Amino acid sequence: MSDSTGQDAASCPNVINKPTVISMVGLPARGKTYMSKKLTRYLNWIGIRTKAFNVGEYRRAATDKYRNHDFFRQDNAEAQAIRQKCALMAIDDACNFLQNGGEVAVVDATNTTRERRKLLFDIIHVKYKFKLFFIESICDDPTIVEANVLEVKVCSPDYTGMNKDEAVQDFMRRIEHYNSMYETLDHQIDKELSYIQIFNQGERFMVHKLAGHLQSRVVYYLMNIHVLPRTIYLTRHGESQMNLEGKIGGDSDLSPRGEEYAIALGEYVEKEKIQNLKVWTSELKRTKATARHVKAPLENWKALNEIDAGICEGMTYEEIQEKYPKEFALRDQDKFHYRYPGGESYQDLVARLEPVIMELERQENVLVVCHQAVARCLLAYFQDKSSEDLAYLKVPLHTVIKLTPVAYGCRVEFVSLNIEAVNTHREKPKNVKTDRSIDEALETVPDHI
Ligand code: ATP
Ligand code: F6P
Repeated sequence: MSDSTGQDAASCPNVINKPTVISMVGLPARGKTYMSKKLTRYLNWIGIRTKAFNVGEYRRAATDKYRNHDFFRQDNAEAQAIRQKCALMAIDDACNFLQNGGEVAVVDATNTTRERRKLLFDIIHVKYKFKLFFIESICDDPTIVEANVLEVKVCSPDYTGMNKDEAVQDFMRRIEHYNSMYETLDHQIDKELSYIQIFNQGERFMVHKLAGHLQSRVVYYLMNIHVLPRTIYLTRHGESQMNLEGKIGGDSDLSPRGEEYAIALGEYVEKEKIQNLKVWTSELKRTKATARHVKAPLENWKALNEIDAGICEGMTYEEIQEKYPKEFALRDQDKFHYRYPGGESYQDLVARLEPVIMELERQENVLVVCHQAVARCLLAYFQDKSSEDLAYLKVPLHTVIKLTPVAYGCRVEFVSLNIEAVNTHREKPKNVKTDRSIDEALETVPDHI
């Protein structure tokens, strides 16, 4: 059986785990960089080591200050040579990344000619035997293109110091140069290639020769994202009785200050006047109670429940350290991967929350009322935080976190509703014990597990 690139799958037993290059295709201002960055963030968050290589950045590093669109003329031989060299450097770095533990490399360039795509295929697939998947963005709606140019291109380093109208005009000429040579992917000519074509910001999709699990996940993700303006509001539940006692997990009621926060949250949402807001809570009492004064349709998600601390549920950190010293030290050593006996790790939580992220991507304005560990995972996705940082992100009680998409990222604002609460954040200890020192320190302590 052949895979999409004509390769005999039986001759390659690791075909499922083979590193993949995702190559963007499309005219300038078609959202290629936007999708490259967003997809890279998503894949890293779900635990797939991914890096984007933007050819525009190589070009800027290889040339003096950008002058004008003439650089992109097809008859500009000198510039063509520079562009070819930059593309090769990016492809080379992408392949190096995959040879050194990377799993997915995204080559973010226009790749608008069949000749360029053949070059990619020859290096990536024929030489290195990596999988190759193309994402082509086709957009013939001039209002979308103009809005994109105004949103991100006029602020590009190419146009520093140039006035906005001149920059727009120059960019439009640049697009024309590319358009004169543009050959879109074609299911008859490019029948061996794996690709998705996205028309007018997701109005329609065409998927060709999908090869494997990773590619289907990428396609599923791309089919769920949108670019409509919206804000996601993220908050933990109000202070709970167990927060007051310093105990983790459980399903306790709100404290009197937690009740105050629930009322304040209702008032805050009212004042924000949010269009078509939806509210999501976990299935635990404290999030439902916190959301009950918010006037908007509500859904409870089991996937939003707090991390399951297994045998440590209902204990304080001090009690855990006392009763299960080895477990306590192991968690400090690698908090993201550590799984409570009978419970979950942060890594498990990310997997549990993936459908929540996918649904959040589909929605517009949503208020998510959840828990400390869950909020850290969601925040890490939006802020592009590494798994090492994720488990220590600060998410204080009685604070609303506003997440608003801007350009290629997300603006994050912490709005405290000014109601006192206990601090439940435990810092990463300065001197984390090694495996050996944990065992040495515990030689005299009986193992309870
Ligand atoms: P260039 O080739 O100049 O680097 P580009 O194709 O990488 O351009 P971006 O810089 O990513 O274009 O453009 C960002 C804009 O694209 C954002 O305003 C975003 O809303 C918009 N966008 C995101 N997805 C799409 C899409 N599928 N089609 C068209 N525009 C999109
Ligand atoms: O025009 C947009 C751009 O991102 C340039 O900044 C970059 O030099 C170029 O595309 C990369 O694509 P190509 O490989 O076609 O030169």
